[in-house]
Amino acid sequence: MKTTVAFMFGCRSVEHEVSIISAVQAMRSADREKYDIIPIYVTKNGEMYTSNKMLEIEPFRDMKALIADSEPVTMIKSGNDVVLHFLNQKLFKKKDDIVINVVFPVVHGTNCEDGTLQGYLDFLGLPYVGCDVLSSAVGMDKAVFKYVMQAAGLPVLPCICFYAREYAQDRDATIGRAEKEIGYPMIVKPVNLGSSVGISKAADRTALADAIDLAVSFSDKVLIEHAVTSIREINCSVVGDPDSCEASVCEEPFMNDEILSYEDKYLGGNKKSGGSKGMASLARKIPADISEEKSAEIRELAKKVFKALGGSGVVRIDFILDTDSDAVYVNEINTIPGSLSFYLWEATGLPYRELIDRLISLAFRRSRNRENLTFTIDTNILSGVSFGSKGAKGSKM
Ligand SMILES: Nc1ncnc2c1ncn2[C@@H]1O[C@H](COP(=O)(O)OP(=O)(O)O)[C@@H](O)[C@H]1O
Ligand SMILES: [Mg+2]
Repeated sequence: MKTTVAFMFGCRSVEHEVSIISAVQAMRSADREKYDIIPIYVTKNGEMYTSNKMLEIEPFRDMKALIADSEPVTMIKSGNDVVLHFLNQKLFKKKDDIVINVVFPVVHGTNCEDGTLQGYLDFLGLPYVGCDVLSSAVGMDKAVFKYVMQAAGLPVLPCICFYAREYAQDRDATIGRAEKEIGYPMIVKPVNLGSSVGISKAADRTALADAIDLAVSFSDKVLIEHAVTSIREINCSVVGDPDSCEASVCEEPFMNDEILSYEDKYLGGNKKSGGSKGMASLARKIPADISEEKSAEIRELAKKVFKALGGSGVVRIDFILDTDSDAVYVNEINTIPGSLSFYLWEATGLPYRELIDRLISLAFRRSRNRENLTFTIDTNILSGVSFGSKGAKGSKM
């Protein structure tokens, strides 16, 4: 019997469109002999739709027409199962619920990749691919992620972190703290966005104030760290779970600008090209042109990051290499990386189809492990409790 896999993508996130590209790539690569695939597209408004047309990218170019041609759905707990329920039922053409065996989230960014969607799936009791609530949430907050890395003894650039309101109340204090603790040049980042949105560098006080103003317009929590001037960026993917994981070959993405921008990442550096293929199209060198030793160091470090976070599934860890000192710093983790980093795994010898098999079996493995844990305790505590008859007065039941 085939496994029914629901691919969830879209959602209320600035990386909504990129998620559609990543999800369609994944659905097209999954083995149809093994899996019945259900696309579940979540609109920017949070509504869920399904249609077989969502298995291809072209229909997404006319979103209005696609939605008009799709079925609004929801997920419902039904006995021990979770089913996909069709909301528009016609009188004589009832659409049967479909039992979902596992969910494959292919979402990027806040409100979904950050543990939100994972929490929803845990609440329903559905197995799902990838990081759990805690690792997703920690991975999304650049500051909390750094604290966890620091606690695990892993190398990160020193940073300060503050809330927008704190800054609004005393701008000079924040700027003074940044100058004292970090020093120019600095880089200012909203803690929970991706794709370089809201990030800028500052070489002096005026630029720093502008950079903070930009960052607080995107997030109420901001991080400032030292900007590495002689920087190379090296990324490495990890697949597995905390018990056992492996690291891919390293890649070096190339920048057109000082900061690897949204355009570089998703539009191949050319807005007019139109033919975006997600992260897989970004100019990059695979494997990265670094020494064997450096590559081994980064791959080992990547596995340590994954374990420290309690990761699961496929992630991409981005490192900063300071070419002056040859030091490597953990920069950030993408718990659902663009294109699921399939291009790194293909370069490591694992075809995309097999990567998807592996991710789905990891999801079931975690779910089985959880089933062995005790979540309920039988007690007769309620039998001895009584509030008398008054207690029922305010009841709405
Ligand atoms: N400490 C740093 N020094 C210099 N450049 C940096 C530093 N941190 C980030 N960058 C640049 O900014 C880009 C975006 O920052 P990053 O932390 O990766 O956020 P995002 O989640 O937006 O990808 C990086 O790809 C890199 O080009
Ligand atoms: Mg990045």
